[in-house]
Amino acid sequence: MDHIHLGSCTMKYNPRINEELSWMDEVQWIHPLQEDIQGILEIMYKLERMLSSITGMKRFSLQPAAGAHGELTGCLIIRKYHKDRGENRDEIIIPDSAHGTNPASAAMAGFKVIEIPTNEEGLVDIEALKSAVGKRTAGMMLTNPNTLGLFERNIKEITEIVHDAGGLMYYDGANLQGILGIARPGDMGFDIVHLNLHKTFSTPHGGGGPGSGPIGVNELLEDYLPIPIVDFDGNKYYLNWNLPKTIGKVRNWYGSIPVLVRAYSYLLSMGGKGLKLSCYASVVNTNYFMKKVSKIRGFTIPFGNAYRKHEVVISAEKLAKETGVTALDVAKALIDKGLHPPTIYFPIIVKEALMFEFTDTETKENIDRYIEALKEISDIAYSNPEILKKCPNNTLVGRIDEVYANHPKTMCLSYKMYLRKIKENI
Ligand SMILES: Cc1ncc(COP(=O)(O)O)c(C=O)c1O
Repeated sequence: MDHIHLGSCTMKYNPRINEELSWMDEVQWIHPLQEDIQGILEIMYKLERMLSSITGMKRFSLQPAAGAHGELTGCLIIRKYHKDRGENRDEIIIPDSAHGTNPASAAMAGFKVIEIPTNEEGLVDIEALKSAVGKRTAGMMLTNPNTLGLFERNIKEITEIVHDAGGLMYYDGANLQGILGIARPGDMGFDIVHLNLHKTFSTPHGGGGPGSGPIGVNELLEDYLPIPIVDFDGNKYYLNWNLPKTIGKVRNWYGSIPVLVRAYSYLLSMGGKGLKLSCYASVVNTNYFMKKVSKIRGFTIPFGNAYRKHEVVISAEKLAKETGVTALDVAKALIDKGLHPPTIYFPIIVKEALMFEFTDTETKENIDRYIEALKEISDIAYSNPEILKKCPNNTLVGRIDEVYANHPKTMCLSYKMYLRKIKENI
C-alpha cells in the first residue's frame, strides 16, 4: 500500500535523516533526570525559537503530547487568564467545520461550547459570530486554512470581533501546512497556537506513536505556559521553573524528545525557503487534484470551486444517490487498488465527505494514478455497483463491524479487555 492522503493529517514523506538523528545514542540514552545536558537543551531552545518565528508567537512550551493535548493546554491557559483578571467567562466559540478535538478540549477545560455555522462559501459566518460573542466569551478556536482547505480571508475581522468582546483567539495548527512560511497566525491576531509536529514537521503520524503538540503564546500569555521552559543565560541553557502565572505541568518530563529532534533537524534542512516551497507544492498538488476530480461523474466539490490550500473535501453524495455507492465504499475500493484511502465522513458539514491532502512530497504521477483510480471506481459504480460493496478483497480483513468494534461492551483494545470479553462470554 502506498501514498497516504489522509486529509487534515499531513502525512508527508518524512526524510530518513531526521529519523536517524532522533535515534542517535546521544538522544536515545539521555535520562530525563539528567536535566543539565546542554546539547538537548540547546536543541529544545532553538526549536522553540524557530517555531516562534514561523508562527509569530513569543514563546512555546514543547510539553504537550499531541494536537488535542495542546488544545487542552491552550484552553487551560485561556481559563486561567480570565480567572486572574477576575472575569467570569465560560464560553468558547467553535465553527461547525472544526475538528472534533476542539469542542472536546474546550469542554474538558470546563467551557461551554458555542457552535457557529459555516456560510455558503465554506467560511466562518461573520454575522453568526457577531451574535455569538458577549460578556461570557472566553475565546474562539479556529483552524486556518479551515478543514475544507479554504483560507478564512476575513480572519482579521474575526479576531477583532473576538478581541473586542474580551475573548482570546486559539489557532488549531493542524493545518499549518497550508500557510507554512507564507503567513503567520500571530500576524492574523491569534493569541495561542498549537502545532502538530507529527504532521507538519517530520514525524510519521497515524501509527499511534508518540506525537508532539507544542503550544505557543504571545506576550500577553507568556507567563501562563506550562513549566519548565528552556532558557539561556548567555552562557548556559537551563530549565526555567519560574513562570509566575503558569498553569503547571501538563505531562511528565519535558516533551516527546525524539519528535522534537526530528522537527529541529527537518527545519534546519528545509530552511525558510524550503518551508515556503513545501507549502506551495502542497497547494498546487491539491488544486490540480481538485480540478481533475471535479470532472469525474458522481463526485462534487462542496462550497464552490474556489482554490483550496493544502487539502480538499470532495462529496460522494451524488454518487451515493445515483448508484448506492457511498464514500465508505469508495475508500474500501481504493484499498484494493493499493492506495491509502482518504479521511472519510469528516468534516461533518459535508455529506459523504472524502478529504484528501496530497502534501508537498507527492509526485504528479502519483496524483494522476489516484485520479485514475477514482475514475475507474466511478465507472464501476455506474455500471456494476455491487462489486464495490464487497471491497476490499485484497486484504487479510475485509469489512469489519464498526459498531461491534466501537461499542464499549464489545470494544477490544488490550489483552485485559480480551480476557474480560472471554470471561463475560461477549
Ligand atoms: C484540524 C485538526 N485539529 C486537531 C487535530 C488533533 O490533533 P492530534 O491528532 O495530534 O491530537 C487534528 C487531527 O487530525 C486535526 O485534523
